[in-house]
Amino acid sequence: MLPDIVKRHMLDAMHDNLLAVHEIQAALDSGDLNKAGDIAETRFGMSSLASHNAAHIASLMPQAMRQIGIEMHVAASRFAASAKEGDMVHAMDSFAAINQQCAACHAAYRLD
Ligand code: HEC
Repeated sequence: MLPDIVKRHMLDAMHDNLLAVHEIQAALDSGDLNKAGDIAETRFGMSSLASHNAAHIASLMPQAMRQIGIEMHVAASRFAASAKEGDMVHAMDSFAAINQQCAACHAAYRLD
């Protein structure tokens, strides 16, 4: 489906996604909602996309897969906004919404 170089880019992005989720969890554990929001926005929120060549990679995906990817980035930005409002309960809900998109895409798509 995707050229090797694009696969490589995507897996690198996945590793960073996982690391970012972990860093967000650590920030939430220590009650630092502001930091959790910053990590989410800069690593996989809507404003991170330009620096990740996301448009190019996304253009090579099937439409439904691309849609899940967009939902994931939107969910990350929503989480960042609610974390910055300082509401832990709302933030945890919107954090779960990010993970839901990770799981939805992994359940449906493989690179090979
Ligand atoms: C739009 C689809 C999509 C979304 C959204 C997505 N992933 Fe992935 N991810 C993939 C695909 C495709 C693979 C490769 C799976 C394969 O071919 O075995 C992958 C693989 C991975 C891997 C394994 C990398 C490796 O080297 O094998 C990790 C870790 C990962 N994703 C984490 C995440 C996390 C965390 C999120 C959410 C924040 C996420 N992904 C969101 C599509 C997605």
